[in-house]
Amino acid sequence: MTPALRKAYLRAMQIDTWSARTRGSGLAVQAPSPGATGLNEADWGELEAGVAGCRRCTLCESRTRTVFGVGDRHAAWFVVGEAPGAEEDRQGEPFVGRAGQLLNAMLRAIALDRNQVFIANVLKCRPPGNRDPQPAEVAECLPYLERQIALVKPRIVLVVGRVAAQSLLGTDEPLARLRGRVHRYGPDARPLVVTYHPAYLLRSPADKRKAWDDLRFAREAAGRG
Ligand code: URA
Repeated sequence: MTPALRKAYLRAMQIDTWSARTRGSGLAVQAPSPGATGLNEADWGELEAGVAGCRRCTLCESRTRTVFGVGDRHAAWFVVGEAPGAEEDRQGEPFVGRAGQLLNAMLRAIALDRNQVFIANVLKCRPPGNRDPQPAEVAECLPYLERQIALVKPRIVLVVGRVAAQSLLGTDEPLARLRGRVHRYGPDARPLVVTYHPAYLLRSPADKRKAWDDLRFAREAAGRG
């Protein structure tokens, strides 16, 4: 099949083909590629050491612990959140607070245990007062996540929340426009699906039904590869 025909099929199925990040406002950042930052060959040990000692941005001054990520390093599902909160900063593990409890429940709803997926954030250090990540912080930190995804080689990347989605996709499109589509991520064009952040769902439980739709949609996309 020619690339043009393949693209036409993907379009007809409403599957986006991956394209390089574009500059824009808001969180659409031009992140340094892993190659540019020397991480593209890093193994897990090098990556962990890099994050643990990272001083690429000023968040290192206020963090208690870095939050590398946790889970199965051969997982089919890679879940991406925004940044550590207070509890994650204390424990050094992503999604351990109230939002984490809901994330675990969301995963269980599609028959996945937390230990069966890999979970990481765009930022590895907590922004003070849980403020939104700044574009420069995202740009410095994103190569760690890019390398983590490349090492895990998941069948699907599930991104929770607007901030993480915009950071990974290099766009400032609203969450409503990013849901319900299969995006393609990275040089391997891995399927990527966006849903609500569990912290948002705690505030707006009426949208849990839509999140459930997203999870089933992601499961289908993971099956298709
Ligand atoms: N919210 C996130 O996005 N990540 C965490 O690890 C915790 C809360």
